[in-house]
Amino acid sequence: MSTTPTPTIEFKPSAHPLADAEREAILADPGFGRHFTDHMVTVRWTEGRGWHDAQLVPYAPLSIDPANMTLHYAQSIFEGLKAYRRPDGSVATFRPEANAKRFQASARRLAMPELPVETFIEACDALVTQDMAWVPQHGEQSLYLRPFMFATEVGLGVRPAGEYLFMVIASPAGAYFKGGVKPVSVWLSEDYVRAVKGGIGAVKTGGNYAASLVAQKEADAKGCDQVVWLDAVEHRWVEEMGGMNLYFVYGDRIVTPELTGSLLPGVTRDSLFTLARELGYTAEEGRISSEDWRRDTGNGTLTEVFACGTAAVITPVGTVKSRSGEWTQGDGQPGEVTLRLRKALLDLQTGAAPDPYGWMHEL
Ligand code: COI
Repeated sequence: MSTTPTPTIEFKPSAHPLADAEREAILADPGFGRHFTDHMVTVRWTEGRGWHDAQLVPYAPLSIDPANMTLHYAQSIFEGLKAYRRPDGSVATFRPEANAKRFQASARRLAMPELPVETFIEACDALVTQDMAWVPQHGEQSLYLRPFMFATEVGLGVRPAGEYLFMVIASPAGAYFKGGVKPVSVWLSEDYVRAVKGGIGAVKTGGNYAASLVAQKEADAKGCDQVVWLDAVEHRWVEEMGGMNLYFVYGDRIVTPELTGSLLPGVTRDSLFTLARELGYTAEEGRISSEDWRRDTGNGTLTEVFACGTAAVITPVGTVKSRSGEWTQGDGQPGEVTLRLRKALLDLQTGAAPDPYGWMHEL
């Protein structure tokens, strides 16, 4: 679908932002996705008119018609990216262009209009600039940005909608997992599958997350933090973890499941190819079966496993449970390669290390 020139964002700032003391209390322990900043960005798209009415407005609930097409047929996509405070007090977002391009790919698959990359970045910049005081001051904390788009047309006919709303909201973020860098336990889902080739597994859309919840409940019941998906045909090849990609560490070689079309092409996953090579590791895509995982952990060739994503950054995997048994990854503690990559990524993002790749987008 055609894109239109970037509409200029009209600023209508809130007359009543949250009081400094209340905001500071939230920033002292933000958790993940629990609190939202004072503003949001909205941009509309209408068939025949393109993108229009770009606004930065006070954060507020939306009023939705009961026959809104998204509520019924789920034409809805989203992204996740972070803004970090740097040592000199300035703020920068990590690879917004990569997220903007993935957002366009998601839109194409769900027959939605593509938002121009510059509009995506400008909307994120406008929100972060307006709500700069919400970007945490220290360490690994960040301001998590959630751009999303959904159909706003009203009607029950099944077809691509003729009206959409693109929005960006922001939420201060601490660790995604309560334990921080503590290894997570995972449940290999052998009954439920997440996605199949040709479907929407590579799309960042709510439906994939809705499909994951019953398996996540199963993982909870087994005492695990997360579910790990296997391929939908053979129920054998490891695809991804609930909402994050996976990397397998074989000494100084790191391997991530190849993009078969049914798993999400993560921005962190992609960044790690570059960072790992810089640190002297070999990074590649491959196929890892659940049997390989168990066998190679047992014989010591698979030394570490970690998950990666915008929200989770890099999180080690400690225990693996499946119908056929349970095993511990290494000594169950965060591995050396995992921690080294995590530090390299966070140092670059927080400005503690230089950014030779031009990944940080300064505001
Ligand atoms: C992210 O890492 O940004 C995600 O989208 C994962 C999850 C919070 C949905």
